[in-house]
Amino acid sequence: MTTKVQTAIFPVAGLGTRFLPATKATPKELLPVLDTPLIQYAIDEARAAGIKRMVFVSHTSKPAIERHVMDDIRLRRELEARGKPRLAEELKEAAFCPKSDDVVFTMQDEPRGLGHAVLCARDHVLDGPVAVILPDDLILGAPCIGEMVEAYDRGHMVATMTVAPEDVSKYGVLAVTGHDGRITHAHGMVEKPAASEAPSRKAVIGRYVLDADIFDALETQAPGAGGEIQLTDAIAKRAQERPISGFSFSGTRFDCGSKSGMLEATLHLAEQDPELADVLYAYAGAHTRTQSAA
Ligand code: G1P
Repeated sequence: MTTKVQTAIFPVAGLGTRFLPATKATPKELLPVLDTPLIQYAIDEARAAGIKRMVFVSHTSKPAIERHVMDDIRLRRELEARGKPRLAEELKEAAFCPKSDDVVFTMQDEPRGLGHAVLCARDHVLDGPVAVILPDDLILGAPCIGEMVEAYDRGHMVATMTVAPEDVSKYGVLAVTGHDGRITHAHGMVEKPAASEAPSRKAVIGRYVLDADIFDALETQAPGAGGEIQLTDAIAKRAQERPISGFSFSGTRFDCGSKSGMLEATLHLAEQDPELADVLYAYAGAHTRTQSAA
């Protein structure tokens, strides 16, 4: 059995209720930060990590995800005909080609939780540990899943960061036993604990490298928080045999499942683009003036 991470699973079946009405017809994974949809950042991260097979766990109501992810030859030809070969080339590079790339779309029919979504990918993964990437956790600046694949040894690894006490209830939280450089050792994990019951402030962020036996654990996992089959519970279940490590990644994470996170990510990227930075600072300057004049 190989220890190489060959598969990335993207759970993208969710309804995206937090972004309604934007997500009524547009999947939340296609909401853009500047001009790039969230799913594209996730794909680019997995590709940079050298992952071979990409498994999208989607829903039949979200065919637009597949349209975005796969190459669209007709659109490219049209762009070329209109004298836009560079744009056509950029689209080609970002997309998967059915002939040369290893991509699977599978459907999660019912919203039964993240653990269930990962289980839906079971029959489509390659040998060895699997990566799980949640596209609404956008991590910029350094490729998180690449760092994790590099650091992965055995057991289950989750990306982690320290959050404010009032925020622990939004996350899976590690029951910490010790630290070793960027690794936090844990003997358990709790999904969305009340602040008073959280075992630590080390929150799980949406990047995982999981031993393949996670699928056996998920198979028998009873519903947990919110009545859903939680990935957190399945990871925690075998903590005795399968060590859990939290990985402190070096990039900056934006919670793009929330409006404030989307805005922060947009401002962060705008600030790095000379043209958009001018717009940003001009707006901020004008806004400050308006406020002080008021
Ligand atoms: C999911 C996981 C949670 C994790 C979080 C990271 O929750 O269940 O353990 O901390 O992603 O973003 P969700 O945000 O989908 O409710």
